[in-house]
Amino acid sequence: MPLRSLHAAAVLLLVALKEQPSSPAPLNGSKWTYIGPDGEKSWSKTYPSCGGLLQSPIDLHDDILRYNASLRPLAFQGYNQSASPQFVLTNNGHSVKVKLPKDMQVRGLGARYNASQLHLHWGDKNDPHGSEHTVGGEHFAAELHIVYYNSDRYPNDSFAKDKPEGLAVVAVLIEVGSSNPAYDKIFDHLKDVKYKGQEVFIPGFSIEELLPERPEEYYRYKGSLTTPPCYPTVLWTVFRNPVQISQEQLMKLETDLYCTHMDDPSPREMVNNFRRVQKFDERLVYVSFQQVPDPPCTGLSPGIVLSVALACGLGICIVLAVSIWLLRRRKSSKKGANKGVIYKPAIKQETEAHA
Ligand SMILES: *[C@@H]1O[C@H](CO)[C@@H](O)[C@H](O)[C@H]1NC(C)=O
Ligand SMILES: *[C@@H]1O[C@H](CO)[C@@H](O)[C@H](O)[C@H]1NC(C)=O
Ligand SMILES: *[C@@H]1O[C@H](CO)[C@@H](O)[C@H](O)[C@H]1NC(C)=O
Ligand SMILES: *[C@@H]1O[C@H](CO)[C@@H](O)[C@H](O)[C@H]1NC(C)=O
Ligand SMILES: *[C@@H]1O[C@H](CO)[C@@H](O)[C@H](O)[C@H]1NC(C)=O
Repeated sequence: MPLRSLHAAAVLLLVALKEQPSSPAPLNGSKWTYIGPDGEKSWSKTYPSCGGLLQSPIDLHDDILRYNASLRPLAFQGYNQSASPQFVLTNNGHSVKVKLPKDMQVRGLGARYNASQLHLHWGDKNDPHGSEHTVGGEHFAAELHIVYYNSDRYPNDSFAKDKPEGLAVVAVLIEVGSSNPAYDKIFDHLKDVKYKGQEVFIPGFSIEELLPERPEEYYRYKGSLTTPPCYPTVLWTVFRNPVQISQEQLMKLETDLYCTHMDDPSPREMVNNFRRVQKFDERLVYVSFQQVPDPPCTGLSPGIVLSVALACGLGICIVLAVSIWLLRRRKSSKKGANKGVIYKPAIKQETEAHA
């Protein structure tokens, strides 16, 4: 018996020694969370990249956006997956993830990128604003990320993730509206992966159905993974237009899952699994679409409305003044050149007053 426990101790020691050099992170380094002592403010202690450059997500606001005509529509290939090669749905303790077949690709990003996985980020039922990217400071309800790796340069996603131009992520903003049957192909199975580490096969489906309308309109920038280890290797494409899911669908996402294992005595709900927006100094976001101004006098700030109103008023006054002047000139020319002269100074004053 003592020999056996000695053996066990030796094995433990060996394991401990073996773990140390291969993972600079502490043994429980993968324990990162979104709140509490292991929350995002602490990520960079264990994962230095999280405190480094090119971090994501970011707020997409007018000051940093630049229209770029060279941003062509992306082409999604191998997206029409039949139901028989099934997808694997996993609860990894941070999100719910669908492993994607490698023959699914996205073209139009320079290199060829093959698919790796997709997953979601969301809020909670009391504060359902859990998208990672924000637009003009506003959160959407949730966000879908489809992750690819550069298959021209690297053999697989785990090899590519910390390499230059290793990854590309396509992001879909999700808002509450009408029900979206495509998303049920994931959401219907959430109950089967309630706890961390659980995995089920789900029927394959066309990932393209998850994308919004007009996918040719998107934001593009260079950023990072939004979860540890936060490698700054991601070419981001965030679609301009959100997709809608219903309140009931969002509720499933917000209430069905746990970050913890099934037998954990202190279960933690999987909610608010989004990273806060990061500093975006001296970077630009390219946009594939022209910022078409809103139709006049709708959805504009009071300041702009006032300026437009003033400009319109001024314009009308000028047009009126000119018309009156022309009319009077015509009248006066009918009446004769001599009388016309009398009117001129008065009219000149009127036009000057409004100019
Ligand atoms: C790692 O986690 C396990 C289980 O959660 C715990 O028993 C152990 O004490 C932790 N070790 C360290 C070094 O934090
Ligand atoms: C447009 O984007 C490409 C990369 O997609 C970049 O090389 C180019 O400099 C950008 N053009 C402008 C005018 O910003
Ligand atoms: C997708 O594949 C199915 C079966 O292979 C086929 O019937 C269907 O027409 C395809 N749809 C598209 C949009 O290519
Ligand atoms: C990427 O997808 C293409 C097309 O299906 C395939 O031919 C290629 O082998 C894939 N690359 C890798 C590295 O798996
Ligand atoms: C990824 O590719 C690297 C380099 O070829 C290889 O060592 C590693 O085993 C591969 N990983 C997976 C998960 O296939």
